[in-house]
Amino acid sequence: MWEYTDKVRDHFFNPRNVGEIEDADGTGEVGSLACGDALKLTFKLDENGRIKDAMFKTFGCASAIATSSVLTEIIKGMTIEEASKVTNKEIADYLGGLPEQKMHCSVMGREALEAAIENYRTGGRKKHELEGRVVCTCFGVTEKEIERVIRENNLTTVEQVTNYCKAGGGCGGCKGEIEKIIERVQGEKTKEKAMAAPAKGQKLTNIQKIQLIQQTINEQIRPALRADGGDIELIDVDGNRVIVALRGMCAQCALANVTMKDLVEAKLREFVGDTFYVEQAKDSTGE
Ligand code: FES
Repeated sequence: MWEYTDKVRDHFFNPRNVGEIEDADGTGEVGSLACGDALKLTFKLDENGRIKDAMFKTFGCASAIATSSVLTEIIKGMTIEEASKVTNKEIADYLGGLPEQKMHCSVMGREALEAAIENYRTGGRKKHELEGRVVCTCFGVTEKEIERVIRENNLTTVEQVTNYCKAGGGCGGCKGEIEKIIERVQGEKTKEKAMAAPAKGQKLTNIQKIQLIQQTINEQIRPALRADGGDIELIDVDGNRVIVALRGMCAQCALANVTMKDLVEAKLREFVGDTFYVEQAKDSTGE
């Protein structure tokens, strides 16, 4: 049984704006019955270009109904420009959150809204089409969609990607490729942030240094360790000495020293600074 917030329950038991606007200005249809979730969103604009009415029809679970219902409420009164900036996170936040395994419903809502806006902007000529290469054939999810949910929701594991867009949740044949996409996108994100950080040679404050180390651990090191049943914890930073504790399978692994040198230290040197070195915490006994 899923843990739902009161708002999710409210929108599920009393869905707002169910149906379809006959002479809609924008129509977006995403998902498919074969994949278990489908949503049709229609909206109508007033004379000032604001969304005066929005309606939905959906096939799916309680979360799909609640997210579709709340989405129609969120966008009413918005301009097209404002509506185009609504994210899946905002939809979920508006409901007080969704179970992690149901986040794909909020993504479906955002996709339907984008499809409806595109349909409006092209004068009704364009219908939603999959863009880019399909990575998950079980659920028809493209590389572009996977990249986007990773980037926007800071996802670091295949399981999270499955929760957000279903990719990987069928035969599992695409999981290896999803892992590679996560690595690539997180690598790009870390580099972007590092570039936004003080320039090389400019001294990092202690807080900036610790944040960058933690971020590198979260995005570059932890996913690789978790894939092998392990984990890592940042214990302390003393000058250029980074003290960490390996957890889970990694704590007992005979190759722990190699992991520390070739993965942990190498990534910290790549993303934080080439003078950093790592040590394992003395009381690090694992779990
Ligand atoms: S191809 Fe992605 S789960 Fe089957």
